[in-house]
Amino acid sequence: MPNQLPNDARGPSLHQYRPHPDTIAISAGRPERRPDAPLNQPIVPASTYVGGDGTEWVGYGRYGNPGWSALEDAVGALEGGTALAFASGMAAAAAVFSSIPPDAVVVIPEHCYLGVASLAHEHAQRHGLTVRTVDITDTERVLAAADGARLIWLESPANPTMEVADLAAIAAGRPDGCLLLVDNTFATPILQQPIGLGSDIVLHSATKFLSGHSDALCGMLIFADGREELLEAAESARKLHGATPGVLEAYLVLRGIRTLSVRVRHAESTARTLAETLAEHPLVERVRYPGFGSMLAIELPDASAADTMINSLRLWVHATSLGGVESSLERRRRWPSELKSVPEGLVRMSVGLEHVDDLIADLRQALDLIT
Ligand SMILES: Cc1ncc(COP(=O)(O)O)c(C=O)c1O
Repeated sequence: MPNQLPNDARGPSLHQYRPHPDTIAISAGRPERRPDAPLNQPIVPASTYVGGDGTEWVGYGRYGNPGWSALEDAVGALEGGTALAFASGMAAAAAVFSSIPPDAVVVIPEHCYLGVASLAHEHAQRHGLTVRTVDITDTERVLAAADGARLIWLESPANPTMEVADLAAIAAGRPDGCLLLVDNTFATPILQQPIGLGSDIVLHSATKFLSGHSDALCGMLIFADGREELLEAAESARKLHGATPGVLEAYLVLRGIRTLSVRVRHAESTARTLAETLAEHPLVERVRYPGFGSMLAIELPDASAADTMINSLRLWVHATSLGGVESSLERRRRWPSELKSVPEGLVRMSVGLEHVDDLIADLRQALDLIT
């Protein structure tokens, strides 16, 4: 049972009851309640299991682990589908690309996580995939590009440019046979549940907000009910490619999920204040904040101004990851492979849990050093 309510909260009247995501984050993915059972799913480090002949056995460490199952129950319940855990977000993405016909047409965002775009283009070069890139804010263009496509891949809000797609309109308007995948890494299931809006597959870099403490690599795919054939194909890809999560990582991500909702809501409130404050600063040419969540981006006049600010910060961490309890930021164009349409002076910011006044003070002193 993915949605584990406390036993005493169950009852006939609650049969169809779907708890709030805040509650699911706390209660799902736990061992059965019985005297002396651990409250948390213990780590089970096992490559080898004793052989059996029943239907419910794992078989081998690359096929399953109780720790993965607990994490999958929790994330599946949060997103409203059935989840599979992977070694990383990219391993999850690779499982999707390997599950669609090699010569299919795929629609991807003009701006999205660079690794995903590179993976799509690699499939195009090596296997004949047709990749169509679109501005995801233009629903009509997304739907026009989806003509004959097997998959629309959305990332909303998008990394690092923060565009937001109309998920429900795209889900409703896509042609028959065209799947919709939403990378929900930035929003998290606390703020957005794409399956409820009509998506078939949800992807997470669980490395980010789900784990939340910058200490684990993990990825998730979540499949809507009725998409069992996609789930089976992804599970088979995980087995065959060996893209399995570590047992410690699965434990850490599930532990992180227990505080997901308070982390996300607190960081969101700080991010909103930061977006408003930074918009007033004379050197900030543009603030990109989608109005929800704890990711934002600012545009400074050029690379040198952005680098001066970043190198002068004392509290904010200069890092390429995001979604941790510590606020971090990065000028994305420092990577030569980043798209040229991402402005040189764009700084992507991941807001953590420090006090908002300290985050603002640090930014102000660093912005003051730009000449
Ligand atoms: C939106 C998004 N999706 C997917 C990924 C890939 O995840 P991972 O680094 O866990 O492989 C990232 C990584 O930054 C990301 O930002």
